[in-house]
Amino acid sequence: MALSLTGSALAKWGFSEWVESSVQSNELYDPPVLNGANDAIVDVEGRELVNFSGIGILGWQREPDVLANFTAAAAEYGLVTGGSRMTAGVSHPHRDLESLLCEITGKERALTFASGLLANFGFVNAMSARFSFAGGVGVDNSDMVFVLDRSSHWSMWKAAEKFNLGRNLLTFRHNDTDHLRKVLEKVRGRRVVVGFEVVYSDDGTVAPVGEILDLCEEFNAVSYVDDATGFMVYGNSQRRFAQEYEDLRRVTFLMMSFAKSVGLEGGALVGPADAMQAFEMLSGYSIFTAAIQPPTASAIAYVLRRMLQNPTVINDYLDRVDWLRTQLTRIGCTINATPSYVTSIVIGSDEVAAQLRVDFAERGYLVPIFRYPAMKKNHAVIRLLLNARSSREHLDGFIETLAELKRKYGF
Ligand SMILES: Cc1ncc(COP(=O)(O)O)c(C=O)c1O
Repeated sequence: MALSLTGSALAKWGFSEWVESSVQSNELYDPPVLNGANDAIVDVEGRELVNFSGIGILGWQREPDVLANFTAAAAEYGLVTGGSRMTAGVSHPHRDLESLLCEITGKERALTFASGLLANFGFVNAMSARFSFAGGVGVDNSDMVFVLDRSSHWSMWKAAEKFNLGRNLLTFRHNDTDHLRKVLEKVRGRRVVVGFEVVYSDDGTVAPVGEILDLCEEFNAVSYVDDATGFMVYGNSQRRFAQEYEDLRRVTFLMMSFAKSVGLEGGALVGPADAMQAFEMLSGYSIFTAAIQPPTASAIAYVLRRMLQNPTVINDYLDRVDWLRTQLTRIGCTINATPSYVTSIVIGSDEVAAQLRVDFAERGYLVPIFRYPAMKKNHAVIRLLLNARSSREHLDGFIETLAELKRKYGF
């Protein structure tokens, strides 16, 4: 039971009232506490639930050899770098991971961050920095213009908060290159960065990468892609969206998160060498905060090498995603049109979405509901990232339960 804030200085902030009303409406809830690892089945307070909420889609984080790599690296390099990158340095696994990222992406230099979100924050900070050492040669890019796809992730909007909407922060309609052209015409000749994602993490749409990069080249703008979602899932010439990923090689800077395909926590930026070296300091989120833990950096590199050696893992996974999409369509669900691995099942009403989370949990399923503020109001979806470790039985049970709840709420 929380202490009431009534009468305290904090009472003016309204937290108590907001929490009370949002808990009552099922909008705010205590996140589940898992007894054991986040896996295809989780134990929440002694109850086994089939779990669709994890984002480590391929389950590498549960593989014995990945765990063994982590443990050996923890013994060798310890659990921490011991300070920030510029003061304490980084360990060999960070450097190894950064070289590997350059090999994978064809870029000159990489910089890892404790998370993908921090990589986004760091990029925007560095690109708009005004700094010089004791009055020497410096950079002053504080007048840069940031042009952002409207469906960009929260971390990009948050990173761009210091920009002035309409003056040095402009937006273009989601994936709309005609609109982007009009926006770029307005800022021609200025220092411009165009930011977008390849696979959008909320609705699975895929950007017209080549067309956007053509425009960036035409208008001499720097391009920045947050590929938190598609990194290492796509990009193989045999797979869907091969052209988009071929085009992506032309991007100036690329950001990746390791949370999804690799299943471990951390993020990185890759790009031209001099800029990346400047970012090590100017990003702020590299010099003033912690790095990825050394054993995690080692395990990320280990997983990446396994993925490069054995592409069938992801190919099989993508085939299962297609199967899941067919099943969802069969039971009459409206799902996102782009067949990426992000599956969005349309719910609509935020109220129904909140109730669905409860109903699914009662029936033994932990299901990720995306609603306001992650989505526009009353555009709620079940945002499903299929877990490669889910069995056919888990999936059949989920589809059956979904069909039942769909009939009940009529979405
Ligand atoms: C598009 C996008 N960008 C950035 C992030 C943040 O990445 P991380 O979870 O590594 O901080 C996410 C996380 O889901 C994302 O989907």
